[in-house]
Amino acid sequence: MEWGMANRLAQLIQSDGRCLFLPVDHGYFQGPTRKLEEPRKTIEPLLPYADALFITRGVLRSSVDPDNTRPIILRVSGGTSMVGADLANEGITTGIDEVIRLNASAMGISVFIGTSYEKDSLLNLSKLVDEGEKYGIPVMAVTAVGKEMEKREARYLALCCRIAAELGARVVKTYWCENFEKVVRGCPVPVVMAGGPQTETEFEVFKFVHDGIQKGAIGVNLGRNIWQNEHPVAMIQAIRAIIHDNATPEKAQGIYDTIKKQ
Ligand code: 5RP
Repeated sequence: MEWGMANRLAQLIQSDGRCLFLPVDHGYFQGPTRKLEEPRKTIEPLLPYADALFITRGVLRSSVDPDNTRPIILRVSGGTSMVGADLANEGITTGIDEVIRLNASAMGISVFIGTSYEKDSLLNLSKLVDEGEKYGIPVMAVTAVGKEMEKREARYLALCCRIAAELGARVVKTYWCENFEKVVRGCPVPVVMAGGPQTETEFEVFKFVHDGIQKGAIGVNLGRNIWQNEHPVAMIQAIRAIIHDNATPEKAQGIYDTIKKQ
């Protein structure tokens, strides 16, 4: 692997082989999502605990100061909205010159496998990988499910992850599911887990993050279950302990309960 690519991946994936990416890109199709209405206010207290931020160029420029040294994964796909015809009909929204100008460490793009736009999104991924490889910039593929949350099961997610890896993604983001080991086993590049909509309890998040890590995920790209929580700083530190300190779900709950009182 060339030095630039290896260096960028090393910024993202820590020396223990694990990572906590903080996605705050949701507005690119959801608009001012709950608790992300003013991105700067959401991001600032959490940034010290994130290994990287997953963000669009607009929110990066407007809401993160340029002296930030946390690596940036730039969300470069979009062009659809919650109220439009089809969330899967995404294109590439940000050119490679802009990615380099913004000093991004990686690019992120969604693929919509099994939809009418499967081929378009997979060819977009391939083109992005070609551009990224030219300049040593890794691509993280997001196995998107749109509004169809029931798609989050091992057979479908394993298919999506494998295809994304085959097309050249250096990291794949998917959802945790039952039998998650099947997803990881079939994917020859590192897998990170998204959180999905907010769960009823924090403990549910600690349990699935812990289970996913045991089954081979290298970390998370997990947003709403951190910043929509009533105590986001406690939440991110508890999840960080599972990822980087091998904390059990019970230990993570203890960390959350202690920090939230401070
Ligand atoms: C939004 C995304 C998010 O980055 C991803 O879904 C992770 O966020 P969350 O944990 O809130 O699901 O790709 O399009």
